[in-house]
Amino acid sequence: MSKNSELQARRDAAIARGISNQLPLFVARAENAELWDVEGRRYIDFAGGIAVLNTGHMHPRVKAAVAAQLEAFSHTCFMVTPYAVAVELAEKLNRLMPGSGAKKSIFVTTGAEAVENSVKIARAHTGRSAVIAFGGGFHGRTFMAMALTGKVAPYKAGFGPMPADVYHAPFPIPYHGVSVQQSLEALERIFKYEVEPARVAAIIVEPVQGEGGFYVAPPEFLQSLRKLCDQHGIVLVVDEIQSGFARTGRMFAVEHAGIEPDLMTLAKSLAGGFPLAAVVGKASIMDAPGPGGLGGTYAGSPIACAAGLAVLEVIEAEGLCARATAIGMSMTAALRALQKEIPAIGEIRGLGAMIAIELVRDGDPHSPDADLTKALVKRAAEKGLVILSCGLYGNVIRFLVPLTASDEIIREGLEIVAESLRELTGTVTRKAAHG
Ligand SMILES: Cc1ncc(COP(=O)(O)O)c(C=O)c1O
Repeated sequence: MSKNSELQARRDAAIARGISNQLPLFVARAENAELWDVEGRRYIDFAGGIAVLNTGHMHPRVKAAVAAQLEAFSHTCFMVTPYAVAVELAEKLNRLMPGSGAKKSIFVTTGAEAVENSVKIARAHTGRSAVIAFGGGFHGRTFMAMALTGKVAPYKAGFGPMPADVYHAPFPIPYHGVSVQQSLEALERIFKYEVEPARVAAIIVEPVQGEGGFYVAPPEFLQSLRKLCDQHGIVLVVDEIQSGFARTGRMFAVEHAGIEPDLMTLAKSLAGGFPLAAVVGKASIMDAPGPGGLGGTYAGSPIACAAGLAVLEVIEAEGLCARATAIGMSMTAALRALQKEIPAIGEIRGLGAMIAIELVRDGDPHSPDADLTKALVKRAAEKGLVILSCGLYGNVIRFLVPLTASDEIIREGLEIVAESLRELTGTVTRKAAHG
């Protein structure tokens, strides 16, 4: 039995099946865009710990900041005896959030917790209860985040009842025949059939749906949501947990639409692999909950905050926003060339370096090919590349390569995607037969 299989068997016996793992690949060490398993095999990492590693594995600056913090102290609880590193990170995030007014932040530990807190803050500010989210959206696995998530299996099935007063509108996805107009009309229908706008505390939206399949919200859609929220006094929460921190070519994806959110939820690449999440927003809204209403024992861990400060320095010093744009352009060009050869690639889309391919049967957007997608993840891993699937129908491959990866590594990874797809779709055989 190989070391990986042995560990997988132990994992299966010791850890509940509710937490699944995509690949039976147990990691021994990792550096920038590469990792090595317990058997010494090297892999290119196009998954980035699900969008956590925009600055790569073990960035030397992040490592140094964490090591220095560890020399001082690792925990006191910010709610008992606070520390400067969290204040400094909050000041920086407040400055980075789009919009010129005063901003404030809170720190928590996970993305789901940031989402939960954004709803608490919006409810405290408005005195209203309802929240609107979008089909296919993903906001986390805790109760309110799960209710807001727009996908039943596997996230909600069997876990009900969900918290009340949550409504979903369709997300605009032209590839699946849903226009911006239709999506906005559906929102109006919610106001007509389900809940009056004067009872809606918040609308929460991902500027690029992550888990849902890397569908980019058209700028005019986000602009319309901004207007709608202004018109009805609704808090606009932009969930940047997956799309933030330079991934899309701007610090936050919402900047592409030129609107100012009321609140933003942040996590993942915020602290380069250390558990940290935040809600950043307009000070007048953020201050609505009273003292003690928000917080958590580990909220704003000093180690994670030190990592967060280093991540922000790296993004600036290494020009990672521009690098994301460049990676996005070169990867898209390579994938477009591949699409000409492989009709199973139905669509290539994304924003900056948040790129995905959607795999379909016979070029039909309505025939998702989840089997091919699963097989591609497996075949790519056999060839030394870690990629992630996503999408409402499990037929999307998302690429979240660290923005610090070299061009050579990215080319090597894409070549594995191409080879694997050729093999799985029989393109190799056809080519050979013709050639
Ligand atoms: C957009 C978005 N929101 C919220 C979450 C939940 O974050 P966490 O898994 O840290 O709770 C995720 C995680 O994938 C996400 O992509």
